[in-house]
Amino acid sequence: MINPRLIALPDYPFQRLATLLAGVAPGADPLALSVGEPQHPTPALAGLELARHGDQWRRYPPAAGNERWKAAVTAWLTRRYGLPAAMIDPHAVIPASGTREALYMLGQVLTDGRGEAGERPLVVMPDPLYLPYLGAARMNGATILAVPGSEEGDFLPDIAGLPAATLERAAAVFVCSPANPQGSIVSLESWKTLVGLARRHGFVLVADECYSEIYDDQPPPGVLEACRDLGGSLKNVLVLNSLSKRSNGAGLRSGLIAGDPALIDAFLRLRAYASAGMPLPIMEASAALWDDETHVEANRALYREKIDLAAARLTGMLGFRRPPGGFFLWLDTTPWGETGEQATLRLWRDHGLKVLPGAYMTANPDAGDNPARNRLRLALVHDGPVVARALDRLVAARPH
Ligand SMILES: Cc1ncc(COP(=O)(O)O)c(C=O)c1O
Repeated sequence: MINPRLIALPDYPFQRLATLLAGVAPGADPLALSVGEPQHPTPALAGLELARHGDQWRRYPPAAGNERWKAAVTAWLTRRYGLPAAMIDPHAVIPASGTREALYMLGQVLTDGRGEAGERPLVVMPDPLYLPYLGAARMNGATILAVPGSEEGDFLPDIAGLPAATLERAAAVFVCSPANPQGSIVSLESWKTLVGLARRHGFVLVADECYSEIYDDQPPPGVLEACRDLGGSLKNVLVLNSLSKRSNGAGLRSGLIAGDPALIDAFLRLRAYASAGMPLPIMEASAALWDDETHVEANRALYREKIDLAAARLTGMLGFRRPPGGFFLWLDTTPWGETGEQATLRLWRDHGLKVLPGAYMTANPDAGDNPARNRLRLALVHDGPVVARALDRLVAARPH
């Protein structure tokens, strides 16, 4: 009665965490660093715009977005990535109700459950990864290839190192930069290589850039810059971004998808059937947020201060590495002689710290040599004093 592919999916990471900690009382007042939900205030601008456009709740939203939203997002992409004025066609920029749903739905756009020779199509993704990539592929009958990052490769998957025959079979390749959880950033050169490979082998490069505005010193290059440098075409490329992290607006469910006009058209075709659409007041508020950079700069400065707090406490400990992007720490529990799951349980039971085991963010949790099994992800989403308190507890939690 229930789709066996759905049943075969691993429980979502936060469900697994709840199962791990079920019935275990926290050893101190709980501090949650498990969920990547920004706790800085959403700019007041969002609420004002929502109220100003309150008469539009009664309307079904246009799936392709309204003119104001399209103009704001096109202008933002053009500004942020230094693109020529006409490179982005506003028709090829559409809203998503959060990028998660778009990432998931792309599975239906890009795979049909069987390859040309009856072979299942391949969807390539990083490992560790944001689990919806895996859900999107598996629910649509694709075979997944999760490519682990290595320390020498800055923890990013070496897609270019895959055999040509593998890339030839790929329907889509998901790449996340800045990466969740490692915080690594794909260089402009690597983006160019990836775009070239997508066109040579005929796969779609899906660039998940939803952490693009949270960075340490250098703005992460985006895939659109690579397209610009390669002549301006967006062929075989899709990019996703979101207000969830940039504007502390996870509850707005407001993202964007842009890129190859033929792919965006296909996506719209699906969305006519499947998408809830972004309500017009939210579209208006989103346009105002994409137009404003002041709150983004202030937000970034707050994250930088918290990464400083982490660096001051954790340098030389648990494989700490200052993440160039995003707001996660990806810590190695090997020095504690524990797996990530064991450490998670102990941090909760003895110290009231809720973190996420790395094993819940990998497509290969059962591979004994998977380094993600000995990792923890910590989301520095609370304000500075709370984060400082949590990090002090973490330092004190070293087993004796
Ligand atoms: C890597 C990555 N991509 C996409 C998303 C989805 O963000 P949203 O649906 O809030 O836009 C998240 C959220 O945590 C994420 O970590």
